[in-house]
Amino acid sequence: MAGDGIGPEVIDQAVKVCDAVANKFDHTINWTPALTGAAAIDAVGEPYPDETHEICLGADAVLFGAIGHPRFDNDPTAKVRPEQGLLKMRKKLGLFANVRPTFTFPSLIDNSPLKRERIEGTDLVFLRELTGGIYFGEKGRKDNGDTAYDNCVYTKEEVTRLAKKGFELAMTRTKKLCCVDKANVLETSRLWRETVQNMEKDYPEVEVSYEFVDAVAMRLVQWPNSYDVLITENLFGDILTDEASVISGSMGLMPSASVGEENYLYEPIHGSYPQAAGKDIANPLATILSAAMMFEDAFQLKEEAKMIRDVVNRSLAEGIVTEDLSGDKKSYKTSEVGDWLAKNI
Ligand code: IPM
Ligand code: MN
Repeated sequence: MAGDGIGPEVIDQAVKVCDAVANKFDHTINWTPALTGAAAIDAVGEPYPDETHEICLGADAVLFGAIGHPRFDNDPTAKVRPEQGLLKMRKKLGLFANVRPTFTFPSLIDNSPLKRERIEGTDLVFLRELTGGIYFGEKGRKDNGDTAYDNCVYTKEEVTRLAKKGFELAMTRTKKLCCVDKANVLETSRLWRETVQNMEKDYPEVEVSYEFVDAVAMRLVQWPNSYDVLITENLFGDILTDEASVISGSMGLMPSASVGEENYLYEPIHGSYPQAAGKDIANPLATILSAAMMFEDAFQLKEEAKMIRDVVNRSLAEGIVTEDLSGDKKSYKTSEVGDWLAKNI
């Protein structure tokens, strides 16, 4: 699903890289394109058409570019918006856990606006709840439109299934889990905290900390390497993961996965970057690294995933990068980076 803006360009590069790896290891990937976002609104009047949903259900994994178009952003009266497609897709595919890793690349560490000594060694993962909370609660207007409300609702079951993924992930890493909430103010946060506390006994090796979201927002840029796995609700996770992307030095590098019990979707954390659409300048690496996650998790093909990550690291080290990363050195086009990666695989 290429989506909008730079989506098609970065997806093209990821497809090249996936096919190169598949070829190398004797796999065949059967790609089925599907419409979403503004592109789908234009074609069929709906940002997540039923046909697209059927294609997703029938696939082993979904690789997704980006969604969003400025023509809708500046029109608060627009009845259908590309973003509604994204939310509908998450809900209908049951993608309740959004996995957003944040790590640094040794060759790019000085690209981050944060000091080297603060960010060196950062390797953390956010698990953001993706199908509940204020995004999906009842919303509306009253008093002739002069009052607006968005309800934040969570059930114990929604918290449990997300937290379970957090505990399991922590077990495969340094066994440190941070539950991010606002339990000093919000009732939903108190439910989160109580639920996670009750699960602690099932994972005796995991050391759990409970921190308020405002304090995490601060500590995340002060001591990012003090965190490992963080679990949080939908809106807090949306905000904190954008903040966390600054640590790596470029939003153009950070991959993500959205997973449920049955469906798997992989996408870069950046948006559709409409200013760059069609110019062949966007950084394709976040999408390509998302494809690496797809090989690793959805297909359970670890060596293939590693090959993608290794060749990406080589391209960074050798300066085969798009203009967002090239500084005053030569920059490469989106398609040139994709070609170089495919060739070197
Ligand atoms: C994200 C995006 C979306 C979100 C928008 C586009 C609806 O910001 O994936 O983080 O808020 O979840
Ligand atoms: Mn976001």
